[in-house]
Amino acid sequence: MTAIEERRTRPRTFPAGFVWGTATAAYQIEGAVDTDGRGPSIWDTFCRVPGAVARGESGEFACDHYHRWQEDVGLMKDLGAGAYRFSVAWPRVLPDGRGPVNRRGLDFYRRLVDALREGGIEPYITLYHWDLPQALEDHGGWRVRDTAERFADYAEVMYEALGESVSNWITLNEPYCSSIVGYGEGRHAPGATEGEGALAAAHHLLLGHGLAVARLRQMARPGQQIGVTLNMSPTVPVTSSPQDVQAARRMDLLVNRQFTEPLFGGAYAADMAETFGRISGFSFRRDGDLEIVGRPVDFLGVNYYYRLHVEAAPYEEADPVRRSAFDLGVRTVTPERARTSGLGWVVEPEGLYETLVGLTSRYPDLPPVYITENGYGDDGALEDTGRIDYLRDHLTATREAMTAGADVRGYFCWSLLDNFEWARGYSARFGLVHVDYDTQARTPKASFRWMRDFIADPVVTTPVTTRPATTGPVDILVAGTPRDERWGPGPLSQAAEEST
Ligand code: FCB
Repeated sequence: MTAIEERRTRPRTFPAGFVWGTATAAYQIEGAVDTDGRGPSIWDTFCRVPGAVARGESGEFACDHYHRWQEDVGLMKDLGAGAYRFSVAWPRVLPDGRGPVNRRGLDFYRRLVDALREGGIEPYITLYHWDLPQALEDHGGWRVRDTAERFADYAEVMYEALGESVSNWITLNEPYCSSIVGYGEGRHAPGATEGEGALAAAHHLLLGHGLAVARLRQMARPGQQIGVTLNMSPTVPVTSSPQDVQAARRMDLLVNRQFTEPLFGGAYAADMAETFGRISGFSFRRDGDLEIVGRPVDFLGVNYYYRLHVEAAPYEEADPVRRSAFDLGVRTVTPERARTSGLGWVVEPEGLYETLVGLTSRYPDLPPVYITENGYGDDGALEDTGRIDYLRDHLTATREAMTAGADVRGYFCWSLLDNFEWARGYSARFGLVHVDYDTQARTPKASFRWMRDFIADPVVTTPVTTRPATTGPVDILVAGTPRDERWGPGPLSQAAEEST
């Protein structure tokens, strides 16, 4: 073995203090939608729309975590995880989204937090993981500014209740999904297909985040952290033609930069008007909003699953009924010979590397990063070797990115349990633990044991054993700049290792 090869396969450990955890979300696991005074959320409503969710499924029972939380905390202890990211169901605490607090709903989270802390597991609370109280949707939902104010009030209620015991607060999960997918594409609740409405929702989500940050900041004690979680997908044009490259940039704006620029770059993305001008005049923006949105946070949560391979497509004819409000003249494709998950999602760990390194280089003031979700979906096999390979390769990519300068502080696997996977229902399973939905029996999968051993001794050997899928000749980072050949045995990978 040559010296360089030896360096490349040198085992590397994660630093002491690196946070290991699993992640879930309220509507996906809790069930008990009518219990103890919980109000309806937009997902309860959406699931009743014929055809909205596969097989007409819903989160009505889900993993019954509301009653089985002690067993689930026990699983986390068996895993050896030091942290747990979960979300609070806003309508459990404020059944109408505002007004009187439902103590019984709050008490559920109190009990959970106490049990976690007794078990040595640090809670990371997400305040909004998509389950908006239906009462607020009836008043316009995220299309209207008032919802951002209500969100800040709710954040304050939660901190008053749990601020003594919870030190890590995440305002939003993936505002891209709750705005564009929910209000623009109609694939998620509330199922709207609006242009202006979806862009307004994205803005008001960011505004709600900023307002909540200010409230939490006023109350927070030293050492407590406030952050926000975004889903990041680097976009890759399938050819180097200007049309495909431009299409990839539009997609990058829609998914990534629409959110990262105002949060961390101090400005709305420069190409917003050019890209969305035919959809919206942005009249929902007000003076001073940008300052609120861009208030400093203590960390960024990154959810990473895949890159997006993009080609230019003809803009569709306007059709007021069926036309997607977000027709940006783009189409995503699965590259030939791509490695894919059990759900057909393209598996490209280098996309996680690009995301982490790209964000670090684009935003000088980027706060430390936690990977708040990363995981593999399949049909639920107990011997889930695909998931083990996925986790190993993405942990390797994470460690490589840290070597290259990304400040990553923790990793949360999605998910602790198989659960209600939104519009896909229960057939898509992401858990380290299998759930039998008839009996609610929990059975740890092979990946659970692998993850337990990894947390106990977190060592990776670079580079990844499986070469990722071949991609187009020109790659674009999340930052929108040409991609370097950093992954694998490329020259920059060597340089990074030599500087370690
Ligand atoms: C993310 C969501 C999470 C889960 C995973 C698979 O987009 O945040 O709730 O559904 O995808």
